[in-house]
Amino acid sequence: MKVSYHGHSVVKIETNGTNILIDPFITGNGTTDLEVKDLRADVILLTHGHNDHVGDTVELAKANDALVVAPFELATYLGWKGINTHPLHIGGAHEFGFGTVKLTQAFHGSAYTDEETQQIIYTGMPAGILFKAEGKTIYHAGDTALYSDMKLLAKHEIDLAFLPIGDNFTMGPEDALTAAEWIEAKKVVPMHYNTFPVIEQDPKAFAEKVKTGEGIVLEAGDHLEL
Ligand code: NI
Ligand code: MN
Repeated sequence: MKVSYHGHSVVKIETNGTNILIDPFITGNGTTDLEVKDLRADVILLTHGHNDHVGDTVELAKANDALVVAPFELATYLGWKGINTHPLHIGGAHEFGFGTVKLTQAFHGSAYTDEETQQIIYTGMPAGILFKAEGKTIYHAGDTALYSDMKLLAKHEIDLAFLPIGDNFTMGPEDALTAAEWIEAKKVVPMHYNTFPVIEQDPKAFAEKVKTGEGIVLEAGDHLEL
């Protein structure tokens, strides 16, 4: 399984011949190496409805006839835009042909902001994602604060975790270090930093301080083999 990082919270997983994108925020993301027109996705996994996570989902899903897996309210909203969706909710898992997706808690908000009409569309509870395939487990925390029930994630024996470190909207580096200690992932990769001035961080300083598991900084386009 090939897992690559593409800036902000964008992660790509290639497994069993399936291309999976998590939170494909490409347009307007100054930290990504990707271009929407070149992207191939069979499946898109979304953690929540904020624009810097839904990103180019509608265009990508339509262009690739991709399946979008998201929390129920967000899946419903996107389904009305004419794309193929599968709704899940927190604590629920579903085995798809390409792997199993389970949604975890995330302490955050979830709404889609329509800039044109100046409307905020509520999209349910935000989530994290546990993805299992080929005997490996990946945790994408989405946007979240530190919360003590993260300790429960340790029993999933996470091979690779993506944790936000940007602060301001999510955990900052100190809280993300505590999260790393609690979830006991073998590898920890920081995300959700340096996209906007308010979330500027030093990912290397964070990675060096990870004591439980190995802290690894992935530049946009870098990948790991699991
Ligand atoms: Ni968010
Ligand atoms: Mn965000």
